[in-house]
Amino acid sequence: MSHHVSIWRAAQLVGVSRGVLQQQVRDGTLATCDGLVAIDELLRCYPTVQLEESGMLERVVQIRDEAFGKRVRERILPSQEVLAQRVFLQSQELADVRRHLQRYHALVIELQQSVRAVATGQPEDAKWQALDKQIKRGLAKALATESVGLLEVMDDMLKIMTAQVTVRPSGHQFAVEGHANLLQSGLHAGLKLNYGCGNGSCGMCKVRVISGDLAPTQHSDYPLSEAEKAQGYALMCCHTAASSELTLELLEASGPQDMPLQQIGAQVRAVSEPAPNTRLVHLQTPRTHRLRFLAGQSVSLGWAQAGFDDVRSSYPVASCPCDDRNLLFFVHRDQQDGFARQVFAGNLAYGSQVTVYGPTGEFVLREGGHRPQVFAACDGGFAPVKSLIEHSLSLDAAPALALFWLATQSDGHFYANQCRAWSEALDQFEYELITHADAEAGAAEVAHAMRVDLFDVSDCDFYLAGPARFVQTLAAELNAGGVPAAQISVQLMEAA
Ligand code: FES
Repeated sequence: MSHHVSIWRAAQLVGVSRGVLQQQVRDGTLATCDGLVAIDELLRCYPTVQLEESGMLERVVQIRDEAFGKRVRERILPSQEVLAQRVFLQSQELADVRRHLQRYHALVIELQQSVRAVATGQPEDAKWQALDKQIKRGLAKALATESVGLLEVMDDMLKIMTAQVTVRPSGHQFAVEGHANLLQSGLHAGLKLNYGCGNGSCGMCKVRVISGDLAPTQHSDYPLSEAEKAQGYALMCCHTAASSELTLELLEASGPQDMPLQQIGAQVRAVSEPAPNTRLVHLQTPRTHRLRFLAGQSVSLGWAQAGFDDVRSSYPVASCPCDDRNLLFFVHRDQQDGFARQVFAGNLAYGSQVTVYGPTGEFVLREGGHRPQVFAACDGGFAPVKSLIEHSLSLDAAPALALFWLATQSDGHFYANQCRAWSEALDQFEYELITHADAEAGAAEVAHAMRVDLFDVSDCDFYLAGPARFVQTLAAELNAGGVPAAQISVQLMEAA
C-alpha cells in the first residue's frame, strides 16, 4: 500500500507551493483520500521528481560535510535535544513496525508448515500443492530487496528536520524549522495568532496540545494553573515541537475586528531613499512589545521632539505581520503631511523614537480564498499591497499571484526591484509595471492588461489600492468584465 502524506508535506516533497497542489485537487488532476495524497499518486503527477533534484540530497551531503555542516546545522536543524527526541520517536515507530513484521512473518511460516503437512498427506490433491506454491511465491516476493521509494525517504527525513503543526478547529498547518518557537513559526506561516509579549509573561499565546510533544525553548514567568497543565495547556512563545507532528487547539483572529488597538514606542532603525520623492522608514518595536496587525492594515505614526510640533499621520504598514518587530513604511513627499515633512527634512534618523498607534483598516486578505490573487496598486497603494503579497506568500495557499502597478509619476515605481525579486524567486508570481500620468486612464490600461494576461478574470480575487479615481475606475471595469463585487477588495488612499 502506498505511503500517504498531507498536502502540506506533499508540496514540500515536490517543491511546489501548497496553493498549486490545492488547485490540482480542486480541478481533479491530483487525487486525495481523506485529505491525504498517496506517494504513488504524487509521483504520477510529478514523475520527474528525484531526490537529487529536490535539493534534499545536497542538504544531507552538506550536513555531513565538514565545510558546510556547522552553518547548515545552525540554520536548518533544531536543537540537539529536539532532534534526539524526534529520532527517538521515529526509531520507536520503526521498531514497532519491525516487531509487527516479524510476527506476521512467523505466522506465515507457521501456516506454510501446516499447509505442507496437509499437502504431504494428500499428494494427489492439486489444491493443497497450489496453495503451498502460492505461499512460497508470496514470501519470496515479500522478502525480495526492492529499491526504496525516494519520496518516502524524504518524508521521513523531513519529519526529523521540520515538524508539522496542525491547528484545530481551523485546520491550518505550519512548519516549525530550526530553533523557532511555535509562536514565531505560526506567525511566519501567516496565521492570525493571539499573543502579547512574546516572552512568556502575559499568557496570551496559551494553547491546548491535543497530540504530540513539546520542548521548552525559554523560561516563562506566566503561572499556568495545575488544572491547565493537566489539560495540556502550554505557551506557544516558550515551546517548540519535539515530535514531528503536533496538533494544537487555539482560537485564531477572524478579521480586523479581533485586532486590539495598541500604542507602542518604536525606534527608527533606518531611513533610506528608494526614489527621490519616497523614503522607506524602518521602525523596530521592543522585543517584548510587538505590533499585532493584519497585512494590509494601517497605523498612525507619531513623532514628538522639543522645538518641533507634534506630528501624527496615518500610513499603511508595508511589511508582513510575520515579522511583527520590524515595520516598514513608505513615506512620500507631501507638504500637507507633518510626519512626511519631518522625514524629508532629515529630522528622523537612526534611534529616533516614533509612537505607533493602531492598527486600523479592513483591507485584508479574504479568509479561505483559494482563487488566484490579483493585486493592483497606483503609486503609494503599493505599500498595503506589498504587505498583502508577503502575507499571501507566507500562507502559501493561493495558486498564483499577479501584481499590476500603475505609476503616475516618473519615479512612481519606487520599489520595482522587489517585484523583480518575487518574480525571479517564485514560479507563481507575475507582475506588470504601467506608467500613465492620469490615474483614471491608467486604471483602464491596467484593466486591459489584466484581460490580456489573466486566464479568467472572473475566477480571481482582486485587491485594489490607490487614489479613488484609480480604484473606482478599475473596480467598475472588473465588474463589467464579470467579476462579482464580493471578489474585489479596495483601499482608497489620498493622491500624493
Ligand atoms: S505571548 Fe505573552 S506569554 Fe506568550
